[in-house]
Amino acid sequence: MKFFVDTANLDQIREANDLGVLDGVTTNPSLMAKEGIKGEEAIFRHYETICDLVDGDVSAEVLSTDYNGIIEEGKKLAAIHPNIVVKVPMIKDGIKAIRWFTENGIRTNCTLVFSAGQAILAAKAGATYLSPFIGRIDDSSWDGMELIGQISHIYKLQGFKTEILAASIRSALHIVKAAEMGADVCTCPLDSILGLLKHPLTDLGLAKFVEDAKKMNG
Ligand code: G3P
Repeated sequence: MKFFVDTANLDQIREANDLGVLDGVTTNPSLMAKEGIKGEEAIFRHYETICDLVDGDVSAEVLSTDYNGIIEEGKKLAAIHPNIVVKVPMIKDGIKAIRWFTENGIRTNCTLVFSAGQAILAAKAGATYLSPFIGRIDDSSWDGMELIGQISHIYKLQGFKTEILAASIRSALHIVKAAEMGADVCTCPLDSILGLLKHPLTDLGLAKFVEDAKKMNG
């Protein structure tokens, strides 16, 4: 399973990348706005900086919601760097645009996915990645992980090549469960990635080893 970090914050991207296990970055308009990025020039510069920092796919989301706008914006985003993946919302014009991008060699990430039906449509359109929003499904008292399992089953059965990118991850446990359910990629906040490190027995064991190492040093 690939690890992406889900943020537009450059310090967090650097920290995740320094761990040596990062395969890419995802952003969305909310994450970009949180960093105070405004205007086309600043947005493009920010994506360029992220692509320079990380050797892996970087999802950049279109702001348009109509077919022509999505195509024009997506072409410009894709031209920033070969690692840019154009993130397109799961709407009718989005699906049509994903088909166009696929036919024109531009990779896509279909976002805001909440059902298996949407997952089938995105795969039919040729999306490179599919982003089901696990945390937001859990928030509405449905089981986000069940959806990952269902999509994984359908994609295997039907031979769809679209990679399942588990998004809206809220915890280290979500990452483990997504791996179990067959996600190809997990995009996570830095805290959830760091959460994978945690175990009290590791801390206790290390404290004992450090103490005993002092005895070995005489
Ligand atoms: O990748 C999508 C993700 O950023 C959404 O996460 O926590 O806003 O539901 P969240």
